[in-house]
Amino acid sequence: MSASGQVRQSTLPRISTQNGRHALVVDGAPFLMLGVQANNSSNYPAMLPQVWPMVERLHANTLEIPVAWEQIEPVEGQFDFSYLDALLPQARERGVKLVLLWFGTWKNTSPGYVPTWVKRDNVRFPRMRTKEGKTHYALSPHGEATHAADKKAFVALMRYLKDNDADNTVIMVQPENEVGVYQQGRDHSAKANRLFASAVPTKLGKRGTWTQAFGDGAEAAFNAWHTARYIDDIAAAGKAIKPLPMYVNAAVGDPFAAPGKSGGASGGPDWQVIDVWKAAAPHIDLVAPDLYTRDAKNYVKFLDHYNRPDNALMVPETGNAADFARFLWPTLGRGGIGWAPFGMDETGYSNHPLGAVTLDNATLDSFARPYAFLKPMMRGWARLAALHPGWGTAKGAPDSEQSRVMGKWKITAKYGEWQFGSMDSPWLKAAPPPNADQPVGGMAVLQVAADQFIIVGTDVRVNVGQAQQSDGDAGTTMKVEEGILADDGSFRARRVMNGDQTDYGLNFTAQPMLLRVTMGTYR
Ligand code: DGJ
Repeated sequence: MSASGQVRQSTLPRISTQNGRHALVVDGAPFLMLGVQANNSSNYPAMLPQVWPMVERLHANTLEIPVAWEQIEPVEGQFDFSYLDALLPQARERGVKLVLLWFGTWKNTSPGYVPTWVKRDNVRFPRMRTKEGKTHYALSPHGEATHAADKKAFVALMRYLKDNDADNTVIMVQPENEVGVYQQGRDHSAKANRLFASAVPTKLGKRGTWTQAFGDGAEAAFNAWHTARYIDDIAAAGKAIKPLPMYVNAAVGDPFAAPGKSGGASGGPDWQVIDVWKAAAPHIDLVAPDLYTRDAKNYVKFLDHYNRPDNALMVPETGNAADFARFLWPTLGRGGIGWAPFGMDETGYSNHPLGAVTLDNATLDSFARPYAFLKPMMRGWARLAALHPGWGTAKGAPDSEQSRVMGKWKITAKYGEWQFGSMDSPWLKAAPPPNADQPVGGMAVLQVAADQFIIVGTDVRVNVGQAQQSDGDAGTTMKVEEGILADDGSFRARRVMNGDQTDYGLNFTAQPMLLRVTMGTYR
């Protein structure tokens, strides 16, 4: 807001991609979304007083929060935006950006959030059919009236944003939520059966029917195509009013599964059908995994699946238990544009076993510490991450994922060390540190020059060494500096780290720290 009470104009947020690396650009500069997502039913003005304190407690710069179709169009054709009338100014006052989650035709695949006039009318708004011809719970992506009605409401939402959010407090929109279907792979209505038996669209670059082209993955690919086309058309209509970045989140399955066996929602942008989504939904800027796995091997595998030259990595939902906090680092190291633990408000609701049993101070601190540290330099990090190769890891990832060769250098992460000495040292024996058996620790690194790295993390020891011993030059650390990043990505040193602080590697504690490491060689 300006002094005159007018909402300031700003340039539209966008996803920028150069050389296969991405940035979320907000107010004209790269922006790292340090997000939190509110609980599912916190999207009412009366609940907002229990949302904002958590955003502040966690030092988040972005709140992801639902807008439900049932809420804005309770009676067909009559729109009510009183919730957004409350939400937007409150966010603006606090300097918090918003990501709006459109709970429409699909919410965790179900039509739970559609208005009752849609829920009741299964003739006009058909639900899927089972193989046996029975009614299935999910709405069909082949329902033309459902598609038209959802689109009309979504367009009304985007028009509201166009008219009421000139400063782009809302930086992104998520059309629908965890789309697709469970318990069966696709709709079995007569119309869907006909489409399933026909040739796959030429845009997919394959020949034959869906079964011929995709084998065991045919139903997931088919449902993905039609669901993505449905949502792409809705997104396109919304973007025609206000072209904000839009993404679709995925209820993912097993990151190592064979085609059709992943177990994620069939039809959503699970990792196996990202290519189908890319072909079907050109108006969707990115597809993004909701990550509730506590298994670090699976977590980093998902990050690798979704981090692609044609897809900016973003984690719109992750568990809010303390052991998830360390996964921020491998996300950042892969150039992630945003990350958000789910269920972060003071309504007292817990989605355990997915997330925390209770949001006690230790849990909140595990997210708040890295966010508080990164927030002042999030623009600098986002700028560098869009320009330079990166990598990151977390405790629990396989050994093969704990080191990475970057140019001439090898970066290695190790956990459960004190800040001095080495646990396998024969001369200085010690019991393991208290964090050794805790699910904490991780790091992100950007290679900002051939011999220079920016490293950030918590509860980890990082070593940088020569990737390959050579007879000629020997590699060594030239300088380790501790500091911060300015908005333009330049490094501001606070001190040089040396002696005990570097003799046994770069030792990160629970309090995050950012280092610039300059390597070199001597003969
Ligand atoms: C994923 C969904 O996208 C969220 O809205 C929520 O239902 C969580 N699962 C579970 O708490």
